[in-house]
Amino acid sequence: MTRHFIDLEDISRDTLHAILKNAHDLKRQKFSPPQIFDGLSLAMIFDKKSTRTRLSFEVAMKQLGGHTTVMTLDDMQISGAESIEDTAHILSRFVDGVMIRASRHDLLTGLAQYSTIPVINGLTDHSHPCQIMADLMTIEEKRGSIAGKKIAWLGDYNNVAHTYVQAAPIFGFELAIATPQKSTHSPAEAVKDADAVVTDTWVSMGQEGKDIEKFWPYQVTSELMSKAKPGALFMHCMPIHRGEEVTEDVLKSPACVIYDEAENRLHAQKAILAWCFEQSGVTLNRRTP
Ligand code: CP
Ligand code: NVA
Repeated sequence: MTRHFIDLEDISRDTLHAILKNAHDLKRQKFSPPQIFDGLSLAMIFDKKSTRTRLSFEVAMKQLGGHTTVMTLDDMQISGAESIEDTAHILSRFVDGVMIRASRHDLLTGLAQYSTIPVINGLTDHSHPCQIMADLMTIEEKRGSIAGKKIAWLGDYNNVAHTYVQAAPIFGFELAIATPQKSTHSPAEAVKDADAVVTDTWVSMGQEGKDIEKFWPYQVTSELMSKAKPGALFMHCMPIHRGEEVTEDVLKSPACVIYDEAENRLHAQKAILAWCFEQSGVTLNRRTP
């Protein structure tokens, strides 16, 4: 069976824990990365902007001995008359895996249906699983086991929030959501006793021009952070709209771990790719430093 990484809820708990463990191991080996992707190629297809996702996949592949090809969906024949099925067959003949960032989630599931190589979700309007793996890795790194922790999500109920909802029962953490769309809590209730406070832009890619007025009560401020557990982390997948979803003082505070979180995209990506490529004969190097 080809291994796809499209939604966390499609993958077993044990597998996701093993991927996270491998991400920590590979981070420890970052200055002597094992060449486990020698001879492997990844196609990266973008239908939206990206800095971290593109960098992390590209650097992950290259540090572990592999290659990448970057394409934009607009420049591919699939934007014209070519079918998803033919595109999947062609990709499967040229490369060993494909990472896609697209608005339409069904494009990924369609490609996965016909593909004999792994299809990896680099963000859709529905979910962003690679991001949540990096986020959980960051919490584990800073605060230990994720099980039993409380995470507060504030702001827009978007693709990243939706992936947290998928992750909570799998990893056994409590998720308190305070958003104007699906508010189960007030912002103060959500952050109470939280180990990590997480937010994201109020205007995701493709939603430009959206009215943000209703989001102001959900802004992450220092006052709100002071209601969380002492030592609570502030996290954001980035890019940030400073002064909107989070204030500058929170970003400058010791609680803010956004750059570690961003770096962990690289290590998490390596582990996700390694799991996907295990079917292609990759043997994971599990030596400890
Ligand atoms: N967090 C994230 O996915 O960033 P990019 O949009 O820069 O890839
Ligand atoms: N919710 C954001 C995440 C960006 C990484 C978006 O979809 O634009």
